[in-house]
Amino acid sequence: MDSNVVVPVPARDDVVIVSAVRTPFGNFDGALKTTSSIDLGVMVLKEVVSRINLDPAAVDEVYYGTCIPAEYAIYTNVPARQITLLAGFPTDNISLTIDRACCSSMTALRQGFRAIKAGQADIVIAAGAESMGNTPLIASAEKARWGTRIGHIQLEDVLFELGYGRKGFAPVATDAGEVALEHGITREMQDEWALNSHARWFEAFKAGKYRVGEELMKVEIPQRKGDPLILEKDEPPRENLSLEKMAKLKPIYGSPTVTAGNAPGLNSGASAMVIMRRSKADELGLKPLAIIEACQPAAGEPKYMAEVPAYAIQKMLHKRGLSLDDVDLIEINEAFAAVTLVSLKKLAGDDPEKFKALQARTNVNGGAIAIGHPVGASGARIAMTLMYELMRRGGGTGVAAICGGLSQGEAILIKVE
Ligand SMILES: CC(C)(COP(=O)(O)OP(=O)(O)OC[C@H]1O[C@@H](n2cnc3c(N)ncnc32)[C@H](O)[C@@H]1OP(=O)(O)O)[C@@H](O)C(=O)NCCC(=O)NCCS
Repeated sequence: MDSNVVVPVPARDDVVIVSAVRTPFGNFDGALKTTSSIDLGVMVLKEVVSRINLDPAAVDEVYYGTCIPAEYAIYTNVPARQITLLAGFPTDNISLTIDRACCSSMTALRQGFRAIKAGQADIVIAAGAESMGNTPLIASAEKARWGTRIGHIQLEDVLFELGYGRKGFAPVATDAGEVALEHGITREMQDEWALNSHARWFEAFKAGKYRVGEELMKVEIPQRKGDPLILEKDEPPRENLSLEKMAKLKPIYGSPTVTAGNAPGLNSGASAMVIMRRSKADELGLKPLAIIEACQPAAGEPKYMAEVPAYAIQKMLHKRGLSLDDVDLIEINEAFAAVTLVSLKKLAGDDPEKFKALQARTNVNGGAIAIGHPVGASGARIAMTLMYELMRRGGGTGVAAICGGLSQGEAILIKVE
């Protein structure tokens, strides 16, 4: 379909998800540590269409989120275009790379939703990838290219502090910890949430969730010698944790509360979803897995990133005349335990009973602290984790929300019939 032609869309023609998959997520120094985000993107794009026998030529647009440009800088720019071409999509496919920090692949979903609602596309792929272990150390032009005529070159690590320090902003871990304390969310509460995140993942895995064929795809990593390495399971979940061990960890980057235990790692992985107009799914004989009811961006004061998922959810539900009582399950990305807890506290409106009740139906199969947070891939990941759980329960309504650096946010409302 020509994306410049605006065709009116019948109001009741839903946007549905028909395929959703991700790679297992890898540890910073794990199996994917030298696999580029571009290669991860190619794998997930091929898988998401092949699962439903969809001809890539039928895909009008690909929106692709990624947010550590230093990682793909070594392969030059336009990763979305490189990925679609390498995945065998036709040369006339329209693609766009999105950087809205950790929100990026949920922003990709929103852009796809909008393109379909606006009548500019029938079939869209929303995807995202990040490979944090593959991030090169960089030498700045000021110090290296133009500065060092003779002598040693100093390398810099863009992953250090994961903040925007060069432009005067604080590390996200510091902001999140300070804002958590303002809300009365203590270090102990954050450690406990993190411990539960791992426990919930293991419980889910034991129950057959997070397996290849459903949310996960198998990844084969060619080795210099011998057979390829096979990755079929998320690497980050940790067993044998205790609150005592976690309490001993030192806070990172000057944060009052955030540690390696109650933060996610620096992970690698990719995720993708095919979304389309319901009538198109009917025409292709594809079963809708879920309906996207609404998408909602938000932004706030840079320091208060931990609150933004709550703003995005409130804004979205308010516009639709709904409340959290209409929602069965919630996913709020564990950018840190502090973020999920602060946002839930805001949503509970300082009602301790409601706060507890919301915690019980949030990230029920564990979150990013256990699963990993390959930042550009996480928005689509939480949307599909939510969808698959609603499907297992035989239907329902769910909301997923994520925050991003400098206080950006996205939320999505989905319904499984
Ligand atoms: C926190 C961070 C710096 C840790 O990096 P790392 O040192 O490579 O991480 P490790 O997994 O080796 O963990 C560090 C130590 O904590 C320990 N640890 C981690 N999680 C633990 C837990 N739940 N319980 C007990 N110990 C734990 C590890 O065993 C390790 O101990 P060791 O040094 O004795 O081996 C890194 O993961 C990070 O920056 N995370 C935040 C990512 C982020 O900000 N994302 C964006 C959000 S917006």
